Amino acid sequence: MNISAELRRRFESALATLTDDPAEYAALVRPAQNTQFGDYQANCAMPLAKKLSDKPRDVAAKIVENLDVSDLCETPEIAGPGFINLKLRTDWLTEQVNAVTHDDRLGVKPVANPQTIVIDYSAPNVAKPMHVGHLRSSVIGAALYKILTFQGHKVISDNHIGDWGTQFGMIIYGYKNFLNPEAYKADAVTELARLYRLVNILSDYHENVNEKLPSAKQRLQEFEQQLADAEANSDPAEKSAKKKLKKLRAGVTSQEKAVQSLQQSIEKFEADPELKELADNHPDIARLARLETAKLHSGDEENRRLWDEFLPACLTALQKVYDRLGVSFDHTLGESFYDPMLGEVVEALEAKGLASESKGATCVFLDQFEAPFIVRKSDGAYNYATTDLATIQYRVNEFNADAMLYVVDSRQGDHFKMLFETARKWGHDKNFQHVNFGTVLGKDRRPFKTRAGDTVGLESLLDEAVNRAYQIVTENDKSKPNGPELDDATRKDVAEKVGIGGVKYADLHINRESDYVFDWDQMLATNGDTATYMQYSYARVNGIFSRGGFDRETIRNSNATIQLQEPAERELALALLKFGEAIDDAASELRPHLLTSYLFETANKYSTFYEQCSVLKSEGDVQQSRLLLCDLTCRVLQQGLALLGIETCERM
Ligand code: ARG
Repeated sequence: MNISAELRRRFESALATLTDDPAEYAALVRPAQNTQFGDYQANCAMPLAKKLSDKPRDVAAKIVENLDVSDLCETPEIAGPGFINLKLRTDWLTEQVNAVTHDDRLGVKPVANPQTIVIDYSAPNVAKPMHVGHLRSSVIGAALYKILTFQGHKVISDNHIGDWGTQFGMIIYGYKNFLNPEAYKADAVTELARLYRLVNILSDYHENVNEKLPSAKQRLQEFEQQLADAEANSDPAEKSAKKKLKKLRAGVTSQEKAVQSLQQSIEKFEADPELKELADNHPDIARLARLETAKLHSGDEENRRLWDEFLPACLTALQKVYDRLGVSFDHTLGESFYDPMLGEVVEALEAKGLASESKGATCVFLDQFEAPFIVRKSDGAYNYATTDLATIQYRVNEFNADAMLYVVDSRQGDHFKMLFETARKWGHDKNFQHVNFGTVLGKDRRPFKTRAGDTVGLESLLDEAVNRAYQIVTENDKSKPNGPELDDATRKDVAEKVGIGGVKYADLHINRESDYVFDWDQMLATNGDTATYMQYSYARVNGIFSRGGFDRETIRNSNATIQLQEPAERELALALLKFGEAIDDAASELRPHLLTSYLFETANKYSTFYEQCSVLKSEGDVQQSRLLLCDLTCRVLQQGLALLGIETCERM
């Protein structure tokens, strides 16, 4: 059930005689901000009155006159400038909530037109350490997968891992030149990550010395020259000259800073004699690493053998993280899978007249974009864009996809705009969505790093979450009024769910497009909009049954019914009936935070109910009714959290 949608349908018919775009105005029916005036509110009379050059209250009256909601609402009221306030009938609410107690789907109807939706999420670049950005993609993607599946769509998840990129050339170069065989034998993935980092550092050093520093110095010189000229030739009293001088001085300062920071990183590098020696012995490392990639791609036997050797180890390490997170995929078709198809993709684009040569490269030119979408570089190599086009073709042909969602960092926005536009022109006119998300920041509001300055590896991060959760769970258990209740194994199990759940919820409860600050204390707080709070809420409601010696199933299957007498009971019932609405909203906007905020609100409604309506001290039908409300609260919280990939515990 989706009460908002039902009311909008009713409004749409009521508005049909007043305007030719009734749906637009019906969309202005929303849950009321202030429940004092009702449960829902329609704000359509004011804008419609403007369009009709009529008085808003008169238009509101006309709408109400046409409106047929008497089966679910009390008589609508017109308030203020023309708001229409709607209060649901308590007998209707009672009937609905009783129906939902016996519904496995908790009142959530499957969608009328199920679609085949491919979701592309996680997609780390293997053999590089997986970082928090990929965690974000994994968590948001997995939640959307579950939400859309629950709605009744056919959803296919595909982990488009980067297993064919330039990092392999770097690792192969590292392997051939810097391998520590013992370390590799003991833990291949860690050694490969070290090699990757080492080759990166050495290449960066040479780039800084040979390219970045000289060009920064040159730019500084240009600024200084321009400034000197301007100082000599202009009248500093004149306003525009003053402005120009100020701008040039700022340019000099910022260029000085750039030079300084490059010099500093060069000095820091050279302070390590071992590194310096390696750098001196490998002056051409960046080019040679690129060459290794090119050799791999063109079928060089040795490099292909190494790739075949590295990949399984990398995938096993990835799988460990996914198991821990409880994230899975229907397919893992990485970039390498599409390699054999890339030539044909470019040929097809050329044949359609979409791609053409420009400065040796093959490009698609799109009206809305200045930069071309390059599908074959001037050295003949295919790239990220080509692979993504092949992937779209495959998903259309093999999966029959109606929609394709890409849960990827906002910074790739332009890539996806160009990709979708090219795919449409190519003939794949599907529902493409870049489900973009912001950056994970540290408390200092800069991209999240460890103390050592490395990007944070995921495994250690999850370990830390669980360790911290264990402290919290233990403290909480020890402070219980009748002494601790959990043995150590239970505490550990709870800590795993609280720790991992905390990391996920923190990520999900923020509008995905915002950057989000990774803060342990906030993440695991037992109060506030956190997984910990939600999990404790669930366990507390569930605890009522064991404390009172009741069995949830038995009560649900008895002929007890819910009666809504107290305002807090009514409020809770209404919140529980809005589950479907929350799921629809989260799905249609592809924003899991709409579901977390619904669950948080519901947990709060439950709190008020629990304060105002005693459950265990009540008796007879009232008690049965309240127990049924508790049971439904448990089921909604548990199902809602499960859709977000967050587990609950019966006892905490
Ligand atoms: N491997 C890419 C990265 O880490 C993300 C891939 C996203 N999916 C895609 N089909 N392009 O940046």
